[in-house]
Amino acid sequence: MLRLYSGNDKKEIKTFLYMTILAIETSCDDTCVAIVEAKKNKSGQVNFKVLSNIVSSQVKLHAKYGGVYPALAKREHQKNLPIIVKKALKEAGKNIDLISVTAGPGLEPCLWTGINFATDLSKKLKKPIIAINHIEAHILVNFINQNQILKIKSEIFPAICLVVSGGHTQLILMKDVGKYQILGETRDDAAGECFDKTARILGLGYPGGPIISRLADKQGIDQSPVSDELKIDLPRPMISQENYDFSFSGLKTAVLYDFKSRTDKTRKSKEYIQKMALEIQQAIIDVLIKKTLKAIRDYGAKSVILGGGVTANKELRKQLQQSLDNQKIKMNLLAPEQVLCTDNALMTAIAGFFQSLKRKKWKNIKANANLKIDEKI
Ligand code: KG4
Ligand code: ZN
Repeated sequence: MLRLYSGNDKKEIKTFLYMTILAIETSCDDTCVAIVEAKKNKSGQVNFKVLSNIVSSQVKLHAKYGGVYPALAKREHQKNLPIIVKKALKEAGKNIDLISVTAGPGLEPCLWTGINFATDLSKKLKKPIIAINHIEAHILVNFINQNQILKIKSEIFPAICLVVSGGHTQLILMKDVGKYQILGETRDDAAGECFDKTARILGLGYPGGPIISRLADKQGIDQSPVSDELKIDLPRPMISQENYDFSFSGLKTAVLYDFKSRTDKTRKSKEYIQKMALEIQQAIIDVLIKKTLKAIRDYGAKSVILGGGVTANKELRKQLQQSLDNQKIKMNLLAPEQVLCTDNALMTAIAGFFQSLKRKKWKNIKANANLKIDEKI
């Protein structure tokens, strides 16, 4: 039997055999709500059933700005949340036991919108509420497999997590669920931001990652030798540095300079755009893979775990696996299915499930735009 207590009287979870979690994620430009049911069977295995998982994308709205416009995103979240939560509750057809909500990192006005909504709902339904770290959620979404929570086995850890999104590029050493150490991160733009900004320079639309990766799809590209005139050599920033940090703003500038140096006719040509897309994608992949392999070797990792929108990139996944094979590094490669790489609330629910097992006290939740994975919420 499940016994969960309300946030106000700060009591703790006693037992858990069965619980329904409603999760809210509004850290950026997607309004996401999920409801999941977690059930423990006699052997202690936890089965997860997704009752509802809704992502309301604001992409079209932000496309004209070439990136996310926070005030607009906040307004959309405020408008969308009541509608989506109502729809999710209807789809689930269940009472909920716990609410989990993203507290950071992310855009502060957007985070507050989700937190305020979740807090009001928790008071109204008299259910506890729990704060979630968005980066941890991107990682923990890998711990659900065929509707079961992975048994946390020692074979998984230590793991190296590569979290790459529109806002973050981080390499994280994971020793267990809840035990993280940031090894390195970007010093300026995130890899996803680089995809988005270079796509904007090329006039391709937003978000840039999926557009560039589609254009860079080698099958669609003319494989005939490139004329000297169309050769593009972009830098691989920091690739040879003995650390786990990244930098992508120089890559963006190099794209801008190359673009500016071309004639109007070349800039608009399909051949140039495709070659440029391929080169941007490859430059980003090369750096991500080189640093990830270094971290794997240096820390004797048993697994590599991917998370964040950029890890939806098929070529990145393929080349990472190839590099592991080529270097005869045998390990688990955990990668979410593509729709779960980008922001969603199912990952927030899974993180909520893990938190609920250890979190004793429920407190008021505050947004923290710069929340780190190794920081207490
Ligand atoms: O994790 P996410 O949905 O939101 C953040 O937390 O930022 O990541 C969004 C980012 C965007 O920059 C988008 O361009 C990038 O992920 N992205 C991709 C792909 N799909 C999304 N980048 C490269 N290849 C993709 N297939
Ligand atoms: Zn994200």
